[in-house]
Amino acid sequence: MSETLEKKLKEARLLEKNNMYSDSGKQIISSLTHELRAPLTVITSNIDLLKKFNYDGDSKIVNETFYLCDEAIKSMTRFVEDISLLNGFNKNEWKAEYKERNIISLLDDLIRELPDHFRSRIRTEGNFEVNVFYTDGYLLSMILNHVIKNALQFSAEEVFLKVYCSKEELVVQVKDLGIGIPESEIDQVFEPFYRGSNVKMMPGSGIGLAIVKRSMDLLKGTIEVNSLIDHGTTFNIKILKQWMPERF
Ligand SMILES: Nc1ncnc2c1ncn2[C@@H]1O[C@H](COP(=O)(O)OP(=O)(O)O)[C@@H](O)[C@H]1O
Ligand SMILES: [Mg+2]
Repeated sequence: MSETLEKKLKEARLLEKNNMYSDSGKQIISSLTHELRAPLTVITSNIDLLKKFNYDGDSKIVNETFYLCDEAIKSMTRFVEDISLLNGFNKNEWKAEYKERNIISLLDDLIRELPDHFRSRIRTEGNFEVNVFYTDGYLLSMILNHVIKNALQFSAEEVFLKVYCSKEELVVQVKDLGIGIPESEIDQVFEPFYRGSNVKMMPGSGIGLAIVKRSMDLLKGTIEVNSLIDHGTTFNIKILKQWMPERF
């Protein structure tokens, strides 16, 4: 083996060894363990409690215990589903399935499903030249759901949702007045498992925006983010008309 080749191999091995413990590797492992361990702890301790009560204790406590278990299971299921979706995107298993979608009812459904304390903070403004856009409703709902929930989660005040829909384009702006994203980290927000250095104990896995970015790519749209730390964040989403059937 030539000396240069041997040197290169040594470098590659060293790089591989270091990568196992790189910052992003650590972030992935801590996200995976936290997102699974936290709900598992809730389930285990609540089941212990149920055993202690022998199922026939105070029904209020029993109901509360079941509720906490349900929520923990839902959160774990969501996390596993998100990971598997991201994996599907990375393996190119997905493609957009276009259909006529009523954007007003798609937004209504999304907002209706938010918890009350989130829904009451949303301020909407719409400019609809048409109500129907030819797009993949599943991907679009997922994109808007993640971006709107982030705005609500990372701020305590009003969140402004502005929508413009024409035959040619769909433009959505989601603006909050929350914690913002540190300037030096803005380029990383769409990376899987990235979580801002200022989010501290707020719950999350860092997968949402990675799913959003890949979904936007499938819809051939653009997503931009502007943010100022401690002042707020704005996401601008734009999807241009794709091919559509003659009759549309
Ligand atoms: N509206 C927002 N305001 C402040 N930070 C945000 C906002 N949206 C996203 N971020 C930052 O981007 C990171 C990645 O977002 P996301 O992938 O949805 O992960 P998660 O919500 O699970 O933390 C967040 O942890 C946060 O640091
Ligand atoms: Mg999120």
